Parts: sequence; structure tokens; C-alpha cells
Amino acid sequence: MTDVAVDVPAVAETPRVADGHVERPQQPAGPRERSDGAPSQATEQVVVVDYGGQYSQLIARRVRDCGVFSELVAHGAPLEEITRRNPRGIILSGGPASVYSENAPRLRRELLELGVPVLGICYGMQLLAHELGGRVEEAAVGEFGRTDLRVAEPGVLLAGTPTEQTCWMSHRDTVFEAPPGFAALAGSGVSPVAAMEDATRRIFGIQFHPEVVHTPYGQEILMRFLSEICGCECTWSPASIVEEQIARIRAQVGDGRVICGLSGGVDSSVAALLVHRAVGDQLTCVFVDHGLMRKDEGVQVIGAFRDTFNVPLVAVDASERFLARLRGVTEPEAKRKAIGAEFIDVFSEEATKLAGAGAKARYLVQGTLYSDVIESGAGAGAAKIKSHHNVGGLPEDLDFDLVEPLRMLFKDEVRAVGTELGLPDRLVWRQPFPGPGLAIRVVGGEATKERLDVLREADHILQEEIRRAGLYRELWQSFCVLPDVRTVGVQGDERTYGYVVVIRAVTSDDAMTADWARLPYDLLERVASRMMGELREVNRVVLDITSKPPGTIEWE
Ligand code: XMP
Repeated sequence: MTDVAVDVPAVAETPRVADGHVERPQQPAGPRERSDGAPSQATEQVVVVDYGGQYSQLIARRVRDCGVFSELVAHGAPLEEITRRNPRGIILSGGPASVYSENAPRLRRELLELGVPVLGICYGMQLLAHELGGRVEEAAVGEFGRTDLRVAEPGVLLAGTPTEQTCWMSHRDTVFEAPPGFAALAGSGVSPVAAMEDATRRIFGIQFHPEVVHTPYGQEILMRFLSEICGCECTWSPASIVEEQIARIRAQVGDGRVICGLSGGVDSSVAALLVHRAVGDQLTCVFVDHGLMRKDEGVQVIGAFRDTFNVPLVAVDASERFLARLRGVTEPEAKRKAIGAEFIDVFSEEATKLAGAGAKARYLVQGTLYSDVIESGAGAGAAKIKSHHNVGGLPEDLDFDLVEPLRMLFKDEVRAVGTELGLPDRLVWRQPFPGPGLAIRVVGGEATKERLDVLREADHILQEEIRRAGLYRELWQSFCVLPDVRTVGVQGDERTYGYVVVIRAVTSDDAMTADWARLPYDLLERVASRMMGELREVNRVVLDITSKPPGTIEWE
């Protein structure tokens, strides 16, 4: 067994595997036809065959960091999924299985016959060792975490790295003997064969994880595999993504009209800008202000798109309508549904108005990310959308073809593309914000205008102080929650009966798990005293110290 889940510290400095469901309600969809967004076959790429390891996505990201496009393909997918990509190399990922278990994924020999180099990582290496005649057994003790590695013979793969180095391991099954024809390159305390290669057949294996930051020479080893062994030129970059996507959007859309629901989040912003670069004023963005945004957010979005980038933008102030729809609604899912439904109504009305004015859109821009594609199990090219991207289900008559220029990108690549396109840092680095906005942060009660206003002001103070302390980017999310509770206080010799504001700040890599952020005490003190001093309605401030699990990031 390998890749056992252990308490792994942050695996990279800036990884931001996009959480599957941020910014949803601004992304309606009713697909007829779509483009898979993958680069052309001429783009050099390396395929990661995914055996279900916890770091499989990260391998693809690290390969891309080296300048080579990379996609994950499930280990059971038809071989054609790999061959049609014309890969320069193949990486076999880690995975939770043991090569000895009955239902363990097997090595497909055809992969070794494609004529391109193969690198097995962790389970991938064990598979190679087991199936090519080596010896894999469960070791008496596993290796989990930082491990010393001794390089006995660098070979082609480890050339240029030190004899003594550390690496990150996560396995119990161990390669005790390399298969015939292979040289054992390195070992650790537990693993006699922690790296191996058959340079003639161009098959390589490493037991450790080069993709995590705790393997200091990991990126160098991956780079050697890609450039020296696979012969890649490593020219893939945010600038080349922009160029490639622009050409692709033009080819898809032709002279058709395009519509985009802009939320102010980084995904829809970057997608909209890319489409605007490609087809200019054939694009119209629709920004629905549902009155549940943070302070000044609408102004910033409108300012950036309409005034700076000259993108045709319809801004709809629909706050009254949303408030009316939320009246009497207290249950979280009911709030989400009400907001999703109202959003679709407003968006459809705007699309109909545009059509009436002779600008009927055939295409809809959606900010779907690669992690959404992987999560949905769709894989590149498959036309399946996760249900949660279709907020509340779209009416059939909202019939668009999808344009998804971010479908092949990870969140950090989306940010890099945003910067490349000149999007202001404030939008590029915006923390995730849920589509239903502040409504699901007025918890346990109705999201009235009065409560939303108190929450918006409290949130503004928190954001201001966190930015001032230089912590905004370090946090996955920071926000306030306003429970439907009042408490007694005393202010200026008077008894008060006011709102409690909860401060919630978390660190996370992907929103699947999160830790409460250890904000400095003096920052907390400043925030609390400003809230209680500046906001008449607030007389108590508390801090949420719940991790996820068991809590969720949002309170509702
Ligand atoms: P939870 O609260 O489940 O949130 O830990 C994980 C991430 O998803 C965001 N979130 C939402 N995003 N619509 C969205 O667009 C929603 O209804 C929704 N609920 C949670 C949350 O902010 C966090 O980033």
C-alpha cells in the first residue's frame, strides 16, 4: 500500500487547487456543444496516468511549472485517450492500492510500447517493479514524511543531484529488488531501491514524491525527466496559454455573439477578458449585483471591466429583487436555491433584452477550471458538467454553446493568465467568495437589508485590517459571520443589546480541508475594537477556531 493519507504540511508555496464550487451562481449553463480547451496535438505534453494518488494533480501542475503542458488521464481510460495526445512522456502516479491486492490497477504494457519515456512515481514505480520482474513487498515499517535518501549511482535521472538529500515519502509497500535490466540508483533507511532506471528502454521509477516541496530536488528531477529524457523544449507558459486560447476562441465563436455572467471572481474575470481579447465587442458581460456583495465590490468590477478594459458590460442592480425573494427564507439551502433561481431569472431577462436589441448570444462563457473537470470525472473532452455548475438547473430554453477558456487550467495558472492580461491584483488575488454571497453569512435567520449592511461594514473592517497587515494572500478566506443572536453589553455607561460578529479566517490549499488561521492578537484586537467602536449595532466580537473537518468554511 502506498500514498497513505498522512498529515502532510502544505505541499507547495502557492498551490491553489480550485475549490469545486466557488463562484457558482454567476455561471449559468445550458450546453449544446463545447470545446474541450485542450492545446493542439502540436503542443508538447506529458500525460500523467492517474492511479488515484493524493498528489496526482500536483504532478501535472509541477510538470506545467517546468513549461510542459500536462493532463491527467484515469488509469482505466481507453488507450486512445493517451495516444491522441501524442505525449512526449508518461508519468505513472502514486495511488492507494497495493500491487498485491486483488483489484489493484495493473500496468498496461502498451504504455511501455509507445516509444516514449515512462516515469513511475510511488505506486507507479511499484507497478513497474512488480510487473517487470522486480520484488515488491510490504516493509515492516512504512516511510511517511521527510526521509533521507542516499544516491549510490545517479544514472540519467538523478544526475546533478547530491549524494545525500532528503525527499518526501508516503508508502508501506517497498521495492526490494529492481527488475532485470534496471539499475538501482538510490536507497533510504527502509527502501533499498528508492529510485531505479533502465536507461536503454527509457523506463524510470522513484519511490518518493518529486512534486511536493519537501523533496528539495524534486522539481530538478522532474525537469531532467522532461528535458533530458523526454526531450521537451519546455516553452509552455501563461503567455502561450493566452495566445493559444485566443486562437481557439476565435475558431469556435467565429462572428457569433457571446454572453458572460461576470461575478467579480478571478475565474469569470479572466475568462471574460480572454474572450474579449479574442472577439472584442462580440462579447457582452452581464454583472448582476444581487446586493449580497461585499462593500464596493460592484464598483470595482464595473470600474475594471467597463472603464479600464472597455468591455461591453450590462450592470444590473437587482438587490431589491433578491431581497424580496429572500424575505422569510432562513434555511441555508432554501437561501441558495432562492438566490440561484433569481439569478437565472435576471440573467435570462438580460439575455432576452440583448436578443431583442439584435445582439442574441449563441455562446456563453463559463469559468470552469481543470480541477472542476477532474472532479466531475469527466476528463478532458468529455461533455459532462458537474450539477453544481448549473445553479439550480437551467431552463431548457436558455440554450447556449459553452466557451470555457479555463477548462485546462489550474487556479494558479488562471491567476498568472489574469496578470498577463493586465487584470488588477485586487481581482487576480481575490479570495474565493461564494455565489450566494453575504446571504449565507447572516446565519440562522433572514438576510434582511439591515443585517446585511451590518455584516458588510464589519467585513469591510476585517478586510481592511487584514490587507493592512499584509496577510490577505496568505489566507484562503477571511470573512465575518453574523449569527441571529444578540447579547448584552455595556458601552458608555449604557446597557446595550447588540449583534455578535464572528471572525472566520482559514488557510487551505483547495477548500477540501482548512485550518483556522492563527491571526496575530494585535490584529484581532484592532479589528474587534474598530467593529465595536464604528458599528453601533455591534457589541461583541468572537473568533471561530474550527478547522474543516469537522466544520465547513462557511457557517451555512
Ligand atoms: P464549505 O463551506 O463547504 O466551502 O467548506 C468550501 C468553499 O466553497 C465555497 N462555498 C460556496 N461557493 N456557492 C459557491 O459559489 C455556494 O453555495 C458555496 N458554499 C460554500 C466556500 O466559500 C469555500 O470557498
